[in-house]
Amino acid sequence: MVKLTGLKKIKTAVFISGTGSNLKNLIQFSKIKKSSISIDLIISDTNKAKGLIYAKKYNIKKKIFNFKNLRIAEKNLLLVVQKERIDFICLAGFMKILSKDFIKKFNGKIINIHPSLLPKYKGLNTHIKAIKNKDNYAGCTVHYVSAKLDSGKIILQKKIKVKKSDTKTSLARKVLKQEHKLYPAAITKLFG
Ligand code: GRF
Repeated sequence: MVKLTGLKKIKTAVFISGTGSNLKNLIQFSKIKKSSISIDLIISDTNKAKGLIYAKKYNIKKKIFNFKNLRIAEKNLLLVVQKERIDFICLAGFMKILSKDFIKKFNGKIINIHPSLLPKYKGLNTHIKAIKNKDNYAGCTVHYVSAKLDSGKIILQKKIKVKKSDTKTSLARKVLKQEHKLYPAAITKLFG
């Protein structure tokens, strides 16, 4: 586990594939004095990720890797992460599955946010599944990344009530709002 030493913030990379609202939120959180992390690198698997705009906006280094060849992508990714002296990785809507080897190299230093109450609904389409199954509760989970998809140790979870009138869109909106609170809270839980 990474430990905070003195006043130095933990150099963090955020991996994205899409809108990047969690990325934006984590950047804003990192700028708070009491936050234990700094966001020093943004990684994406596509140059189409809307969230890449935050690299320019907040003057953060960004790198895009083509994950068609996972082995080559991760080799280059590792070089960049090491060069930037990254100590901690937050996955935030990153749609690629990292290899066991990569995860092992960063054992206990990669976390992810997932839009369901894990272990329920690993993988995609979590909100549709919750609505279809008429679940009373939905939510989000921050967890360590392990070799098995969405199965690492849970750090923090937030539960919200599903209304009868909820659609997959309204539920996604509500859960995302909670994600923006949960991710910083989970990081604070880990590092103080
Ligand atoms: C979030 O719901 C996150 O839990 C999931 O993908 C979505 C990403 O949203 N893994 P954003 O790109 O952070 O806006």
